[in-house]
Amino acid sequence: MAWQILISILFLLIIRADGGPLAYGLCQSGCNALAVACYAAAGSTFGTVTAGLGTPAAILACNVGGDADGSFRDGLLDADIVNVLGQLFAEMPDFTWTSPERCEVLRSFTWLMASLCRGMQSPMLEKVDAAFDFFPQVLLGTTDAEMLSNATWGLCYLLQGAEEDSEGCRRAVRILTAGFQGEEVPTPHPLLQQVVRCMRMVGDWRCPLPSAALRLAGMLVHLSDSSFTDALLAAGLLGALHADLVDSYAPVQVRRDAAWVLANVAAGSLAQAQSLAEQPGLVEALCDQGPTEVRQECTWAILNLLKHGPDMFVRMGVHRVVCILTNALQADTEPALQRSAMEHLELLMQKLQTPEAGGLVGKLQGLCHSSDGAILQKARFLLQNFFPWQGMPDDDMSNNLSRSG
Ligand SMILES: *[C@@H]1O[C@H](CO)[C@@H](O)[C@H](O)[C@H]1NC(C)=O
Ligand SMILES: *[C@@H]1O[C@H](CO)[C@@H](O)[C@H](O)[C@H]1NC(C)=O
Repeated sequence: MAWQILISILFLLIIRADGGPLAYGLCQSGCNALAVACYAAAGSTFGTVTAGLGTPAAILACNVGGDADGSFRDGLLDADIVNVLGQLFAEMPDFTWTSPERCEVLRSFTWLMASLCRGMQSPMLEKVDAAFDFFPQVLLGTTDAEMLSNATWGLCYLLQGAEEDSEGCRRAVRILTAGFQGEEVPTPHPLLQQVVRCMRMVGDWRCPLPSAALRLAGMLVHLSDSSFTDALLAAGLLGALHADLVDSYAPVQVRRDAAWVLANVAAGSLAQAQSLAEQPGLVEALCDQGPTEVRQECTWAILNLLKHGPDMFVRMGVHRVVCILTNALQADTEPALQRSAMEHLELLMQKLQTPEAGGLVGKLQGLCHSSDGAILQKARFLLQNFFPWQGMPDDDMSNNLSRSG
């Protein structure tokens, strides 16, 4: 039934190829699969009068956004909207629009395309295949913040939909080879350079661009194939992350996300960790105290660097490392971080017999009251072995120990 309506509208559009008003009116009122047919027809017959296409695309995007069960979106996908949009997009350079018109349409297209890719599970992937080519082209072809942001989120959705790491890697390869079929992909990768550039556009608090770019970079760094991290490093990732991290005007979330990506780079290969440790001023920036959320991610980055061996202790400076680890024992720190910090302190003290620094004993004594059994025992162990002359905080501890054990 729906198809018959679509086909008759297609005919109407083709018959009225002379005048734009009918096409324009229909496209404006279409908030469903009808609009898809409208676009298909418009792309082939109304190359010169389709500047109004942006409005229905925006209406559709809006509707997809408020579509709780995804049925509206799936209906559009079943009607092959992504390929229709992709084709229109490809034909656009031949349309005789002014650039503001083109920009308005492209903004709506990009928004709609991103909304369609949201929450996209694997089985539906073939329906959004064109999006893998579309978003990279938008990223490389525009400086418009709204478009860049929607296209970057679109790429995030495409990666996010992968249920397994291997599938995520395949999708990432698909994104990074888009537009380079059969050719060698250049280094630094232009798409990743653009993503890195977007990370730095923090000026406006409401600008969602750095968050989107940081999310995309974080997802790529998180994949098991470390070549994505290498490609990002070659595109200048560390400089951008460093700048975001120390930008006290940037939203805390942006600074925290930057530190999170750095922590993931630090957890990567030895060469990746080394390039982080060698980036001028970056380790110092990670050691600087910021807001709590930022500080915790920075501490993870330092701890991940330390996992690469004793060289890192030396490179970062033993005293600085002890300060960081001691700070990580504060009561408001997450328990996993406290545990990891104590493990590193133990290694450090075994090797270097570090004297007490920055209230370490006091912090350890505090942790002897922790409600987390593992933390409490570790703190007690460190005190007994490395600071036996300091004594235990008090005798009640044995009660707490036996209760937790
Ligand atoms: C996506 O594009 C629409 C329309 O241009 C805009 O209103 C919206 O803010 C954009 N979304 C993001 C996350 O930038
Ligand atoms: C023992 O543990 C409880 C909670 O688990 C805590 O409130 C109490 O302060 C602890 N006592 C000592 C002496 O550590």
